[in-house]
Amino acid sequence: MNLKTPFDGMTLSNPLMPASGPLVGDLEKLLFMRDDAGCGAVVTKTISTKLPTIPKPCIKAGKNHVMNSELWSEHALEDWTESFLPNFKKNNDRPLIVSVGYSKADMETLIPTLDAFADAFEVSTHYVGTDLSVIAATVKTIRAHTDKPVYMKISPHLPDPEGFAKAIKEAGANGVVAINSLGPTLNINIAQRRIEYGAEDGFAWTTGPLIKNLALGVVYKIKQAEPDLNVIGVGGIQSADDIIEFLLAGASAVQMLSGALLKGKQLYKKIIDDLPAALDKYGFSSVQEVIDTDLQNDVTYTDELPELIKERCIECMLCVKTCPYFAIEFKERIMFDAEKCFSCGHCVSICPTNAITMLGKGLGG
Ligand SMILES: Cc1cc2nc3c(=O)[nH]c(=O)nc-3n(C[C@H](O)[C@H](O)[C@H](O)COP(=O)(O)O)c2cc1C
Repeated sequence: MNLKTPFDGMTLSNPLMPASGPLVGDLEKLLFMRDDAGCGAVVTKTISTKLPTIPKPCIKAGKNHVMNSELWSEHALEDWTESFLPNFKKNNDRPLIVSVGYSKADMETLIPTLDAFADAFEVSTHYVGTDLSVIAATVKTIRAHTDKPVYMKISPHLPDPEGFAKAIKEAGANGVVAINSLGPTLNINIAQRRIEYGAEDGFAWTTGPLIKNLALGVVYKIKQAEPDLNVIGVGGIQSADDIIEFLLAGASAVQMLSGALLKGKQLYKKIIDDLPAALDKYGFSSVQEVIDTDLQNDVTYTDELPELIKERCIECMLCVKTCPYFAIEFKERIMFDAEKCFSCGHCVSICPTNAITMLGKGLGG
């Protein structure tokens, strides 16, 4: 199976990269991503001009999400330029994307200093507000200092992804990394009557599977609006199927962090190893074929009653208990009330044994 992934004039051995964060925070971790995890490209923690003051504890795992109040790299620019990056580049065969933040003034220092180490730049816009003219001016400053590909990372609190994409493209960026952490979000410990994790203002940022569908939405919006921009999809990935979803939504490559914080750092290697079988299962012969596939959007609005596949039903009553329209009853078997049913499809998706179908809508079966 061909996992080769074309990416801005480079060819990645596979489409998975680490997302910027603690798992790429120094040389040991960058080497792990390259040599143990086998990522197609390696990304750094966001490097900036000043050292951050990070409130601790700063990472809290939930069931399907992670909350964090980390800022940018706790290591000085000189640690990166004098130690981590030159050592990483020795005998290196993997593209390195250097993540930097945040302001136009920071870029004047960071881009010339880091250019020799970077195959591409990823620029966080997390703390620079929502003014697109400020973001465009930052791109122009970066462009003035490098010929390397420039990827602007969008945060989900930015209200206009299409406007963001247009502005950065016109200013000279090559693509978008979508998305950064969601927030600000709040975490409450009831017993202690206090906010448990967060920055000085009490807020933290949420990532992981919880934000996957939001990330897919932003990737899709950006690719539809600006097809010439490359999009790197990130947010909630934790399986080979997730990678395929992001590529179908319009991403050219993907990144992951929280999946590894929830399931273990071996998840990078595992999902790269799982990818060939997942592609095969869905009838794809290469990563390129997924990227080239047009995602169908043929949602139709005809009403249709769900149907029960009796031999699969275990009579657990979950559909009865959860039907939002009170339209399912158990009378010797599961019965759908045609008068009350709203054809919402919820019962199809919640049934644990796939015993309900609405095949006209392609649901279940
Ligand atoms: C603990 C933590 C630290 C992060 N630090 C950074 C960072 O320094 N720069 C950045 O651009 N994004 C940072 N992120 C955001 C991730 O790169 C990524 O966009 C986000 O976590 C969504 O992907 P995921 O669901 O796979 O984690 C951080 C996320 C977490 C959880």
